[in-house]
Amino acid sequence: MANILIIVGTESGNAQMCADHLSDNLPSLGHEVEIAADEDAGNVDLNGREVVLVCTSTHGDGELPDNIIPLAERLRAETPDLSFLSYGVIALGDQTYKATFCKAGKDMDALFAECGANKVGDRLEIDACTQPLPDEEALNWAQEWVTML
Ligand SMILES: Cc1cc2nc3c(=O)[nH]c(=O)nc-3n(C[C@H](O)[C@H](O)[C@H](O)COP(=O)(O)O)c2cc1C
Repeated sequence: MANILIIVGTESGNAQMCADHLSDNLPSLGHEVEIAADEDAGNVDLNGREVVLVCTSTHGDGELPDNIIPLAERLRAETPDLSFLSYGVIALGDQTYKATFCKAGKDMDALFAECGANKVGDRLEIDACTQPLPDEEALNWAQEWVTML
């Protein structure tokens, strides 16, 4: 069973809601869940971690939520060796932003891969336009995802 750190990037709370729902429900499947939110997400220490789930929305014109920008900048600048880490990505977006749909989640996905982290499963992309219950979609996906850890 895994100890999962969910790193939340959010501007208006949807990604946080997804993380909270996973935190409420994954322990019944035998997994421990911690959440790094607000500025803790930007400053998170990845050393000693085994499994990370990045759960981030996209804002502006394809930009990261402010709170998670320091983490992205650190990974980009330092390219730490994260080959000890397994990770997954839940990207929240809105398909009406065609060219930048879920871009922040895609960018975080690419950054973890560039640092040598091991991707588990496919990235989940949640479209606010068609999905009124992002936390339920996230949990449905995560219940499959944890079986791949
Ligand atoms: C000002 C603004 C800009 C946005 N820009 C994008 C974007 O570029 N790409 C995208 O896929 N979604 C975009 N979205 C949609 C959000 O990612 C989506 O509503 C998401 O569920 C918000 O999650 P949050 O509450 O965790 O921040 C934008 C939303 C707002 C309000």
